[in-house]
Amino acid sequence: MAETTKGIVLAGGHGMRLHPMTVAVSKQLLPVYDKPMIYYPISLLLLAGIRDILIITTPHDAESFVRLLGDGSQLGVSIRFAVQDAPRGLADAFRVGASFVAGDDVALILGDNLFYGQGLEAMVRQAAARSEGATIFAYPVRDPSAYGVVELDAAGRATSIEEKPSSPRSRLAVTGLYFYDGQVVDIARSLMPSARGELEITDVNRRYLALDQLHVSQFGRGVTWLDTGTPDALLQAGHFVEAVQNRQGWKIACLEEVAWRKGYIDDAQLARLAARIPNEYGRYLLALLG
Ligand code: TTP
Repeated sequence: MAETTKGIVLAGGHGMRLHPMTVAVSKQLLPVYDKPMIYYPISLLLLAGIRDILIITTPHDAESFVRLLGDGSQLGVSIRFAVQDAPRGLADAFRVGASFVAGDDVALILGDNLFYGQGLEAMVRQAAARSEGATIFAYPVRDPSAYGVVELDAAGRATSIEEKPSSPRSRLAVTGLYFYDGQVVDIARSLMPSARGELEITDVNRRYLALDQLHVSQFGRGVTWLDTGTPDALLQAGHFVEAVQNRQGWKIACLEEVAWRKGYIDDAQLARLAARIPNEYGRYLLALLG
C-alpha cells in the first residue's frame, strides 16, 4: 500500500483541567506563545508529508476552527472538519472520521500535543511510509502513570501496553501521535467503552499488539514532547517555544513556513500570507523569502 497521506487532528474534548480558560474557547485554540495550539500538531502532519487533514472539534467550536484555518488551500493542503458531539474518547476519532479514512492508512495526532526536535521529520516520514499495522511513539517521562505506558523487550518490540497504570512497567509513555493502516476503523468500531466510559486508543493499540502488528518507535532525548492540558503544562510549553525561538531566530510550528519549505505553496503565496499578518509574525514570513 502507499504512503500515509491522510491525518486526523483530534481537537474536541472537555478541557476540564483548563477551566475556566476553556469554558468559552477550545483548548486547542489557546495560545502557545505566539500561535494557536493547533498549529503545532498540524505542522507535524505537514512535516510527515500529510496534506489531507480532518480536524475533529466540538459542535460549538467548529466555526472558530474554520475561521482560523479555512479549507487549507492557502497552505496548499486540504483541511476538512467533522464534529464529535460528545467526548467519547480518543478512539472515537475513527468512528467520527470513518468516511474520511475510507479504508486508507491514516495518522492521528492529539490537538494538544507538541513535538519538536532533531530527527523528528525523518522518524514521522518513516512511520508514514510503513504500510502495514500501526506505529506508535514511545517517550521516556519521569511520571508515566498519567499516560498509556508501553513495555518493550530487548529487541524493542512491545510486550505490554497499559492505560494510566498505577504501577507502570516502564518509563515509556505513548505519545499522542499514531499511524494506522486501514484496519483501524473496524477495530475502533468493535471497541467497548472502558471503565471510565471512553473508547480508549490504548485498546486499539492492544489489538494491533495482539495481531503482532504494533511497531514502536522511540523518541530519544533530542526530541521534546509536551502536552498542554494543565495550566502549568500550557505555561511551560509557551516558555519552551519562546526560549527556543528567541534564541535561534527560527519559529517552531509556523504552518506557513512549513508549507512553503515543503513546496506546498510558492514564494508569491507566502508573501500574500505574510501581508495578512502585519506584525513580527508576518515580518518573519517575509524574511524567509530573503
Ligand atoms: P485529554 O487531554 O485527555 O482530554 P480533554 O482535552 O478533554 O481535557 P481534560 O482532561 O482536561 O478534560 O484529550 C487529549 C486530546 O484529545 C485533546 O486535544 C482533546 C482531544 N479529545 C477529543 O477531541 N475528544 C475526546 O473524546 C477526548 C477524550 C479528547
